[in-house]
Amino acid sequence: MNVHQYERYWLIAALVLIVAIIATVTYGAVGIGIAMIDDSEETVDPDALGEHERFSETGTHQVGENEYEVNVIAWQFSYEPGGSPDPPIEVPAGSEVTFYVTSEDVIHSFSVVGTNVNTMVIPGEVATMTVEFDEATEYGLLCNEYCGELHHDMEGEIIVHPEEEFDLFEIPAVDAPEQVDAGEEAEITVTLANERHQERSTTLAFEFDGDEQREDVTVDGESTEEVTFTVDTTDLEDDDYSWSVTVEDGMERTVDESGQLTVGEPEED
Ligand code: CUA
Repeated sequence: MNVHQYERYWLIAALVLIVAIIATVTYGAVGIGIAMIDDSEETVDPDALGEHERFSETGTHQVGENEYEVNVIAWQFSYEPGGSPDPPIEVPAGSEVTFYVTSEDVIHSFSVVGTNVNTMVIPGEVATMTVEFDEATEYGLLCNEYCGELHHDMEGEIIVHPEEEFDLFEIPAVDAPEQVDAGEEAEITVTLANERHQERSTTLAFEFDGDEQREDVTVDGESTEEVTFTVDTTDLEDDDYSWSVTVEDGMERTVDESGQLTVGEPEED
């Protein structure tokens, strides 16, 4: 068959274009590490996140020397943690952080402003992303998927703290009597947990009837310390008194517990 020379050129050009298009699409899909959400991912029950192993413990958890996991629930119209009324997401600088994000209602996104961290968050699915945070700074968090009336208000914050200021203190238990007889001493024992892998120091503040007692504590990595505060009721009238205990950490975060102590005979109802 005799094909005209120009026609042959055009056929070759068309073939080259077809191959180039297929190569471009293939590279875009698999070559630059953009992951698509697929059925092989872990699934969760969006109505039972409170019982889920990971999402019942939202927030930052240390899993290796410089490795952290942050579990986040997106909801109409905020992030827990990350957006109000929850505190911001907090991680230390120089860390590798894996975010696990799910939604309890509709489709949202988890997009860290000014970075390439941007994922759709689908109820029933867990979006996973690993990010390295080198420097102490702050990032905004935005929802890029239209999710309802207040979609434009759905925002949050990630604070990257200097490594030496980053603490993960919790108060898992306070052992306190509910009642003491007038003139007796009441002992309030606070358990302070350090959830970082490194040893950390802090100050516990115990307040009772307007008086504050402070105690410096050092807790080994991944362990707890008990601190006992004593209240002398000699000069107190029979009444109900409230107490609170607060831990100060390098991030000015407040972790507190409070309760009541009845001095004297409990009032009859
Ligand atoms: Cu959530 Cu838009």
